[in-house]
Amino acid sequence: MDIQAVSTAAYIVASLLFVLSLAGLSKHESAKSGLTYGMVGMAVALAATIALVVDDSAGTDNRALALGLMVGAIVIGGAIGLWRARVVEMTGMPQLIALLHSFVGLAAVAIGWNGHLLGASAGEPASMVNIHEAEVAIGIFIGAVTFTGSIVAYLKLSARMKSAPLVLPGKNLINLGSLVAFAVLIVVYVVMEESDGAQEWVLVALTVLAFALGWHLVASIGGGDMPVVVSMLNSYSGWAAAASGFLLDNDLLIVTGALVGSSGAYLSYIMCKAMNRSFISVIAGGFGIEARTGDDVDHGEHRELDAEAAADLLREARSVVITPGYGMAVAHAQYPVAELTSRLRARGVEVRFGIHPVAGRLPGHMNVLLAEAKVPYDIVLEMDEINDDFPDTDVVLVIGANDTVNPAASDDPGSPIAGMPVLEVWHARDVIAFKRSMAAGYAGVQNPLFFRDNTQMLFGDAKERIDDILHYLE
Ligand code: TAP
Repeated sequence: MDIQAVSTAAYIVASLLFVLSLAGLSKHESAKSGLTYGMVGMAVALAATIALVVDDSAGTDNRALALGLMVGAIVIGGAIGLWRARVVEMTGMPQLIALLHSFVGLAAVAIGWNGHLLGASAGEPASMVNIHEAEVAIGIFIGAVTFTGSIVAYLKLSARMKSAPLVLPGKNLINLGSLVAFAVLIVVYVVMEESDGAQEWVLVALTVLAFALGWHLVASIGGGDMPVVVSMLNSYSGWAAAASGFLLDNDLLIVTGALVGSSGAYLSYIMCKAMNRSFISVIAGGFGIEARTGDDVDHGEHRELDAEAAADLLREARSVVITPGYGMAVAHAQYPVAELTSRLRARGVEVRFGIHPVAGRLPGHMNVLLAEAKVPYDIVLEMDEINDDFPDTDVVLVIGANDTVNPAASDDPGSPIAGMPVLEVWHARDVIAFKRSMAAGYAGVQNPLFFRDNTQMLFGDAKERIDDILHYLE
């Protein structure tokens, strides 16, 4: 049997399955079958790759070693992946994804260096050797930027590093200068002769530069823009994989990398539009944004109420809108929220949900939690669908949301989240904000909503407080 031909056919099948997987994942109803296509595609791709490696090393002493290394790597990697996926909390998903992107980046760097050490195939014409070297340099560069960028995103998302943007003097110049330096280094690397020992050092310089650039790019981006960064790194990891595909002469890696690269770039673009951010500015490490980091404005006094008073307000209300955020996920409050919803509806109160596109920590986070708690789909509305209805709303329950309901986004042009569309809850008659303290939200800025005359704070864990309200609503 011609293993080469069979593998090529298997790669085409796997590529098609990956395309079907992406198509399936774009809709609620078909998401499960989309995942199945993806898993089957990956199984086909792995089987074909193992068969190819075994076939390539046929007749050599390396056959058993190659097979052993591959199976060992798959078993160890698969076991760790399975364990992490099973234990990860929904709220920890973005940082896990960022960490996984860093592995793709590191693998691309390793493949690039391997390509350099092995050199182009013997007897290749000079032009092909140059192309090989360009692939090595580009693969290492994209991979290294992805690696350190993803590590910083992981550290910021898991609160191991401050989420405020790093503002070095001349940061835009640093980024632009690094790109120019990369262009120069790649030309020098390709033009230089391999026999000249200095070629290796050029590649070392290029690798170090790319590691530093990746770190700086993402460190310069503020916490509020992190969702876009994660999807942008997703895109970079795709391009890094595609670059490795060229180097390894592996068509499937090129196709898969391009799919991930372009879909990640498009998702970043859509998210930027939703958050009114400049796409170029975000992918260029906050290019042109002079972010303000301090927040020393005196917002005045806030008012508090207890669960009993909140229950009284709800009992009197005709229309209620619930705007959930990250705190609802942390408190696992979606179940009592669903219970509260059905109790109020049973009393004839109109209850609806307003979902901000970046509420929580990953796209669709709130929708998934509410669906889990069996809140009916038709009362869960997007931000644009509900924003005009707040002036006619009696009570808004802000449950663990902060940045997504911050009026400073529209009122304060100097705010780090300025320009981001938000849920305009302050137009309602009464706002009850569920929170444990007066601490700032994810973007690290104080929220003037909590100090408005029509807002009252209900302090404590969101789940416990809603349970208390349910008790008083009996
Ligand atoms: P955040 O601004 O993150 O604020 C969440 C609030 O929940 C905090 O102020 C916190 O206040 C409160 N909280 C935490 N645990 C709680 C608990 N157990 N009970 C009650 N309250 C609790 O929330 P948001 O409005 O959802 O905004 C999301 C932010 O994350 C945005 O800045 C967004 O850009 C960013 N982000 C989004 C994504 C995606 S794609 N959704 C990904 C990464 C980052 P206390 O500590 O005082 O309780």
